[in-house]
Amino acid sequence: MAKIAVLGYGVVGSGTVEVFYKNKESLEKKAGQELDIKYILDVRDFDDSPYKEKFTKDFNVILNDPEVTVVAEVIGGLKPSYDFVKSSLMAGKSVVTSNKELVAAKGAEFLAIAKEKNVNFFFEASVGGGIPIIKPLHACLSANEIDEIAGILNGTTNFILTKMIRDGMDFEKALKIAQELGYAERNPSADVDGHDACRKICILASLAFGKHVYPESVHTEGITKITLEDVEYCDSSDCKIKLIGCAKREDQGKISIGVFPAVIRDESQLAGVNDVFNAILVRGDATGDVVFYGKGAGKLPTASAVVSDIVSAVKHANTSKSLTWADSAQDFIKDFGDFRCASYIRLTAKNVEVTKAVIKALFGEVTYLSRKNQPENELAFITGVMSENETVKAAEKVSDGAEILGRIRVLDY
Ligand code: HSE
Repeated sequence: MAKIAVLGYGVVGSGTVEVFYKNKESLEKKAGQELDIKYILDVRDFDDSPYKEKFTKDFNVILNDPEVTVVAEVIGGLKPSYDFVKSSLMAGKSVVTSNKELVAAKGAEFLAIAKEKNVNFFFEASVGGGIPIIKPLHACLSANEIDEIAGILNGTTNFILTKMIRDGMDFEKALKIAQELGYAERNPSADVDGHDACRKICILASLAFGKHVYPESVHTEGITKITLEDVEYCDSSDCKIKLIGCAKREDQGKISIGVFPAVIRDESQLAGVNDVFNAILVRGDATGDVVFYGKGAGKLPTASAVVSDIVSAVKHANTSKSLTWADSAQDFIKDFGDFRCASYIRLTAKNVEVTKAVIKALFGEVTYLSRKNQPENELAFITGVMSENETVKAAEKVSDGAEILGRIRVLDY
């Protein structure tokens, strides 16, 4: 019999307990032994819960109980999760977590402790909600050198962008619905400013390239500057705007990595990913492109990944060797100024013909876009591929009464 403790009874924690008891019988067959949740840790009272006798407010009760061999941390954030996870691993308990902030910040440290203590540290639920991606990346695709990863990694922003594209809904209203549906982080800035997607691409890049990538080293932009006008220009030229996290193997052992809204052509496998769905494209040197798709947020999809990790941790007790990466200085991350891509640019001009000549001089040949009810003095165009530094420099030189209203990178996946 394996005894489990669930830390946190919020959206994911309550989903974890629900999925666990709903499928307990089949989980036990898969784990090869009886399973039970012995404790649920939460600071709140749940007197009406059918599991009320399992609740504790004292983490030390769990830590000091030798019967508990697997701890599921689903509290989120760094405090107190960091201390709970670290002390659980140090005490020889396996830990599974959905906490991307914690894994992105402390993954290398926890993986090293897990290895030393011969226990597991699993985090399938930290990226892509219910989509299996961590295990496929480190196990099923292990024959490959991973050349590139690009993903729609945040359900909330994808939900908001979908509402803007399909319904012309404004940003605030779409965010409110996402929050009501339980997709959004406690602080919506983590979603809309790109930090959540950043943590997830850090975890994937660390796994794919073998060295810890810290969120502070990643150029990160959110979706708050995207307007309905941008959405219309892109839609009328068969493109969609998506928040993309991407990481790519570069020369001399370096990688490029970033999170930003991107214009994607409709033919791309990522362009048709809508609502709360996530998709992660992995480009392996043997497989070519493999795309993982599914619900990237929400109670039960995320709980699915947590519970699967619990079963794996029970089934493969005393192993954690295949899932690993090294801690590192961040000198293998290429300067984002060298990142190369085309750009969509929207601007207002005092004199359209003069500004078109300026654009040609600064950006070379560009492709102009149009939209319904386009104001006479507004231009939107797509440049050729340039480095980030070159694009920023050229944009700064736009003059003669023209003002840039927005720029979105164009990616080719
Ligand atoms: N807030 C996150 C999202 C939850 O919207 O994707 C899942 O990590």
